[in-house]
Amino acid sequence: MHIPLVDLRAQHARIASDLMAAVSRVVDEQRFILGPEVDGFENELARYLGVRHVVGVASGTDALVLALHSLGIGAGDDVITTAYSFAATAEAIVRVGARPVFCDIDRDSMNLSPASVRQVADTYASKRTRRLRALIVVHLFGLPADMEALSAIAREFNLDVLEDAAQALGARVDGRLVGAMSTAGCFSFFPSKNLGGWGDGGAVATNRDDIASRVRRLRVHGTTTPDHHEEVGYNSRLDALQAAVLRVKLPHVDNWNEERSRVAAWYREALAGVEGVPASPRTGIEHAHHQFVVRVNDRANVQQRLAKEGIASQVYYPQPLPKQRAFVEYDASSVPEAEEASTTALALPMYPELPREHVLRVCEVLRGCRHALVR
Ligand SMILES: Cc1ncc(COP(=O)(O)O)c(C=O)c1O
Repeated sequence: MHIPLVDLRAQHARIASDLMAAVSRVVDEQRFILGPEVDGFENELARYLGVRHVVGVASGTDALVLALHSLGIGAGDDVITTAYSFAATAEAIVRVGARPVFCDIDRDSMNLSPASVRQVADTYASKRTRRLRALIVVHLFGLPADMEALSAIAREFNLDVLEDAAQALGARVDGRLVGAMSTAGCFSFFPSKNLGGWGDGGAVATNRDDIASRVRRLRVHGTTTPDHHEEVGYNSRLDALQAAVLRVKLPHVDNWNEERSRVAAWYREALAGVEGVPASPRTGIEHAHHQFVVRVNDRANVQQRLAKEGIASQVYYPQPLPKQRAFVEYDASSVPEAEEASTTALALPMYPELPREHVLRVCEVLRGCRHALVR
């Protein structure tokens, strides 16, 4: 039995004819960059999220870079973020010339710890050399971060809040969608994401007209009209082909996320009573279950045992960001929970169509690993 981490072919098979029709529409039109498909997708995603604007860009990383840039964040500015995320979150901060300041995570949610953020923000009150400008909150693995507590701290310290919702499209807190709960939400349409394209793609969602129009300008070389370059920008446009694919998939996302939740419930049921299994989210939280991540001892050995049975698993993430060579020069408070997560976290197979018998087999093998699941 081979059990992959993700099987994109299973999703494709369900909607193949709609996708092929959308793609041939673009091919017939021969308009491949921006244009009506991108406009249509932006409007549909904005309606779904309940925001005034969505601007399609070339990737989730660019969504973060352009959102930061549109706020005028750059040299001399500091931006708080989590020590435990994909590198792109911190990379975007460095790309605009600012400095990331890494905070620790909460043990259970693996999301940014409000206590750690407060501690770091407090230290800036006495510093006069650098400006703390913003906070990038990541909704890691599809679980909404504690936006209420983090937004309250941001208000107190006058910080802009950006959401890195790359892994969490469709996740909700008391009915409100993540990515629509801050100054700007940034999404990735990398193929394996909850809403995945057929290549790279991303978007910035915002209620602020000034941010939307600046991101629109920045994505096309800073132009306001074809021949007028208002500022130095980027080439970061969403392709019409990606937009056409995403328009077909968007109406299915809630259903696919429900199927992911059902897979997560099977895992929780089959691993009931075992330590190291994430608890069900509290009432009011709709987890997008981009990943199902358990905590294990002796991770390399567990991975080997799973692999021997044909079961894929993946380490997200093997080091806290401030330990990565690219970011060692930047500030980090002590991040013991991020350190711990980076040695024990293991992502198990997760996708909407994952059959129940595969989940049960993964759990059987995991239960058979001596001393596997931790704490
Ligand atoms: C948390 C997080 N932020 C940002 C990104 C960057 O997205 P992209 O790969 O589309 O640039 C990703 C995805 O890879 C991600 O998982």
